[in-house]
Amino acid sequence: MIEISNLTKVFGSGDAATTVLDDVDFAVPAGEIFAVVGPSGAGKSTLAQCINLLERPTSGEVIVNGESLTRLDAAALRRARRRIGTVFQSANLLSRRTAAENVALPLDYLGVTKAQTRARVAELLDRVGLADQASKYPHQLSGGQRQRVGIARALALRPSVLLSDEATSGLDPRATDSFLSLLREVRDELDLAVVFITHEMDTIVKIADRVGRLDRGRIAEQGSVVDLLLDPGSELGAALRPSGSSSAAPVGLEQLLVTHNSVAVPADWLSRITGQLGTPISVLGGNVQDVDGVSVGQWTIAIAPDRVHDFTSAATPLGLYARPVDTDTTVAA
Ligand SMILES: Nc1ncnc2c1ncn2[C@@H]1O[C@H](COP(=O)(O)OP(=O)(O)OP(=O)(O)O)[C@@H](O)[C@H]1O
Ligand SMILES: [Mg+2]
Repeated sequence: MIEISNLTKVFGSGDAATTVLDDVDFAVPAGEIFAVVGPSGAGKSTLAQCINLLERPTSGEVIVNGESLTRLDAAALRRARRRIGTVFQSANLLSRRTAAENVALPLDYLGVTKAQTRARVAELLDRVGLADQASKYPHQLSGGQRQRVGIARALALRPSVLLSDEATSGLDPRATDSFLSLLREVRDELDLAVVFITHEMDTIVKIADRVGRLDRGRIAEQGSVVDLLLDPGSELGAALRPSGSSSAAPVGLEQLLVTHNSVAVPADWLSRITGQLGTPISVLGGNVQDVDGVSVGQWTIAIAPDRVHDFTSAATPLGLYARPVDTDTTVAA
């Protein structure tokens, strides 16, 4: 379990002071993946550095399994930091060390015997599927393999928290998916609390249980991924929802954006509404996907303007939320 409590980070002082993190609050229980998303410059990497105490927060606390790391002196902090394993973008491996030597790095500092280190490294590389790549140097590995070495190294000291900052950036879709499955597996096996920082919305939908949106240093919105996806009023939900392009509405018809607003939208909702209203409904675009067994998505449809009200009334009891598309900003649909 990791708790981030009223975390604030100010760089500089006086006139030059910039508040990069402003009262950030969230908690991630063991076994859960919490994603942090936000635009470039929102403070995501600063948050990562404050969580593993590479940067001292200006105020607020980082609490792991009930112990506040921010209150520890330097020696105690060095020990406590072992409870947080970190994977960075492009893994940050040392280029002059082999995969095995990179994984061994955190163990080297602990005074573990060579035999113990060798056994632990072999076990870790095997776990991430790289037993046969142990003696390769980082430049001889693919991007996806380097990130797997990064996970192995992050797990070397048996942490209870895994922190990942843009670890899938730059990976192709297959390497990303394989990284995400590995992350989910180790989360389950080791009951890790995972803080997963990314700017990729589709990655969040695939992996996270909950997500917080960081906006200019503040958590502007947070919640479970499914709840946000089903909330038509959520900005984060709208960004997470799979969106497809839609064609233009036929002349004279009104365009509506129809969003899943319930876990129980019947698969045949369109034919039900068409049957009930007895009027043609054109589907201009749509996208649905399964998230934790819940179907979420949205469609763009077109209908005669004098039937819009009837459509909305028929859609609501089926768990759908319909609103007119502002045709000037249709791209958002
Ligand atoms: N050491 C520092 N001193 C002063 N300002 C800093 C420092 N580190 C980061 N910042 C500022 O903090 C803000 C947030 O930076 P940060 O790297 O945390 O953003 P980010 O959300 O990770 O962005 P990206 O998506 O591009 O990685 C930026 O405006 C940056 O200039
Ligand atoms: Mg960053």
